[in-house]
Amino acid sequence: MWFVRFLTSSIGKKFLMATTGLLLFLFLCTHVAGNATIFMSSEVFQSYADELHSHPLIVIVFSFSLLLVFLAHILVGLYLFYENRQVSNSRYAVTTRVVKNSFASSTMPYTGLFILAFLVVHIFGFTFAPHDSLISVTVKDLLSNFFYALFYILAFVALTIHLSHGFWSMLQTFGVNHPRYNALIARLSLILPLFFLLIFGGIAFYFMSGLGASF
Ligand code: HEM
Repeated sequence: MWFVRFLTSSIGKKFLMATTGLLLFLFLCTHVAGNATIFMSSEVFQSYADELHSHPLIVIVFSFSLLLVFLAHILVGLYLFYENRQVSNSRYAVTTRVVKNSFASSTMPYTGLFILAFLVVHIFGFTFAPHDSLISVTVKDLLSNFFYALFYILAFVALTIHLSHGFWSMLQTFGVNHPRYNALIARLSLILPLFFLLIFGGIAFYFMSGLGASF
């Protein structure tokens, strides 16, 4: 089938990475907006979480789709990394990269695996938290632990590095590339990940530093 042939071709795999990356980026935008309500009050955050859970069917379909998108992004990403390594170890390897081999691009699999480790800890801590306690209380309790919050902040730094290359690379795959806008694209690829770091990292710091003691 043409569709399967396309997805297993090298441009198809790049396209799959870019599309799943875009969906994950959109998820992060909604997640950061929802979590930013923590800075308002525990009641506002709790009512946001309650509102979300008042539509169980939507939550189940959304969570399951998100899991599939994450799995596709991770598996295809690891496959591409393995494939690239085989090619660059080959004695017929030719360097055709136009892109400079930045720190962010060469560490993509490692920052990606760190984010995966974070997600496992995060989902066990929050999504599978005991149902008898309020989610706002769980967030405060977990992030008030210095080492737990520190691990979160390190994961957000890894996320920022990962996104700074991933966002740029996604736009290249989609053909968003024009000499007039390239400087703007490069700046956006840094500003958007830093914005996530500011909000997500700010939440972890808020509890870890004791600023959120009355939350
Ligand atoms: C301090 C920052 C963060 C806080 C406070 C936070 C909070 C939460 C909470 C409370 C939930 C459970 C929602 C519920 O079931 O009621 C959740 C789920 C989740 N979070 Fe986060 N989160 C943070 C950062 C992140 C980041 C950076 C990512 C991705 C890299 C992420 C990915 C997820 C995923 C995938 C789920 C499961 C969503 C689902 O089941 O549909 N979170 N988060």
